[in-house]
Parts: sequence; C-alpha cells; structure tokens
Amino acid sequence: MSEGTRQYEDRRQAERRSRDRRSRKEPGPPLIVFEDVWKAFGPVKIYEGLNLTIRKGETITIVGGSGTGKSVLLKCLLRLLTVDRGNITAFGEQVTGRSEREMLPIRRRIGMLFQGAALFDSLNTFENVAYPLRQHKWGTDAEIRERVGWCLEQVNMPGIEHKWPSELSGGMKKRVGLARAIAMEPEVILYDEPTTGLDPTNVRKIDALILALQERLQVTSVVVTHDMDSAFRVSDRIAMLWQRRIDWVGYTDEVWEAENPIVRNFVNGEISWE
Ligand SMILES: Nc1ncnc2c1ncn2[C@@H]1O[C@H](COP(=O)(O)OP(=O)(O)O)[C@@H](O)[C@H]1O
Ligand SMILES: [Mg+2]
Repeated sequence: MSEGTRQYEDRRQAERRSRDRRSRKEPGPPLIVFEDVWKAFGPVKIYEGLNLTIRKGETITIVGGSGTGKSVLLKCLLRLLTVDRGNITAFGEQVTGRSEREMLPIRRRIGMLFQGAALFDSLNTFENVAYPLRQHKWGTDAEIRERVGWCLEQVNMPGIEHKWPSELSGGMKKRVGLARAIAMEPEVILYDEPTTGLDPTNVRKIDALILALQERLQVTSVVVTHDMDSAFRVSDRIAMLWQRRIDWVGYTDEVWEAENPIVRNFVNGEISWE
C-alpha cells in the first residue's frame, strides 16, 4: 500500500470512528455569517468574495494551507482586523463598521484560543485566566477566584493557579489559553491551530477537550487548523479555504464523496499542508 493510500485509509477510518460516536447534528440557525468578504494587505489579496455561514451549536473547522488567511478570518470576526468589502454578522448583529466600544458586547460572547496560546509571560496562570474577567469588570475578587478555579478544572488542570507560563509545557499552555477563552462563558469558542506544535498524545488530549467542552458548555466552535486528522476528530462540518474563498463546505462524511477537485486531491493524499 502506498503512503498516500495508507493515509487515506487511516483518515477515513478516524473520521468514521468519530462520526459513530456522535450523531450528525440538526443544523442550527445561522449564528455567524461572512458575506462576500474581501480583504487585502497592500498588494497581497487574502479574500476575494468569501462566503461562510456558521450555525448555532456546530463545530466547524476551517482548513487550508499555511498563509491562506485562516487566522485573519478569526481576527476579522472579532474585528481585530477590518475587511475591505462585504459583511460579517454575529448573533444577528453587524460586526463590520462597528466602533471599538460597540464591539465589546459581541467580543464578550466569543472566546478565543490564540495560535500558540498567547499567554502573558509576566502574569501567572491565575492572572492569565482572570484577565478577561477583569477586563470586562466581571464579579468580585472571590467570584473571580472561584471562576478561575472552575475554568482550570474544565481543562483538566485544577490547582495550577500559581504556575508561571515558563513552567508550563506547550500542551499545558494551550489548556490555560483555553481556560482563559471560556472564562466569560462564551457562546462561541474560536480555536486557532489548537494542536499545532504538540506531540501526538497532547494533540489527542486537546481534541478530546474540544469535544468535551462542546458537549458540556453547548457552545458553537470554530476551529482553524492545517491538521486534517484533528479536523475529522472534532468537527461536524469542514470548510476549505482555497484560492481566497471558502471553496467547499460539508459534513465530515461528505468529504469522501466530494466532487471538488481540491477535496479529492486531499483525500487521495496528493496534497498535504503539513
Ligand atoms: N496584520 C497583518 N499585516 C499584514 N499582513 C498580514 C497581517 N496578518 C496576516 N498577514 C498576511 O496575511 C496572510 C494570511 O495570514 P494568516 O491568516 O495568518 O495565515 P494562516 O492561514 O496561516 O493562519 C499571510 O500572508 C500573512 O503574512
Ligand atoms: Mg494561522
């Protein structure tokens, strides 16, 4: 069996196993909508008419090669970056064209795990997780302590409040980043490359955590990754970013029957993004 064929079989089996464990969800109503979005950085075009609808309660993974604009898409949603043309709405509210102050109520409903976790090195774990709570003037000191404790339990790292980022492994940092992302009890969690740079054991732990949080907190999750195996494990649907648009979107089991040539190339192991 060739390397490509074996990879294809492995992936197909992994996808089938994860699908067997979860039933295909009834699609919820649209929660986040990208409509004809255009974006360039100077001469570098990132999106040319990108459309994507994210439905309430689903886990959707956006896959695509390095530098295709996956992280930028999440940043545009949070309005950390602005788009040149088109509309983005979240919870029925327009994100595009909103002032910084008007973004706050939307941002507090969305938690983000940044690429590389992005912990503040000068703050211990407690203060890192408490950061969004303080920023949004949430609760008393005692309530914040309790909440931080709860968040760390959710990511299977109770009692590490006193640890500094420099004392944490890559996988632990991601989990603290995730604890911080859920601190405000968001309705949506954005994961930017949650498994990148981790060894296979930690990759599985993070994937399991994404699934567990999805189940426990009933959130809508948007995962951005170049790791297709991870994508199959955690997602209901997969969206493929290709040539400045979402070129294909479908349920994980539809990947195998897709007629889209890029999706076909991928499942046949002819292209790889790693
Ligand atoms: N703030 C920025 N200013 C200029 N160029 C940027 C900025 N952010 C990202 N880019 C460029 O946009 C492209 C897409 O970036 P990104 O979304 O980070 O890719 P990826 O799909 O790997 O996450 C890259 O070429 C990157 O260099
Ligand atoms: Mg990125």
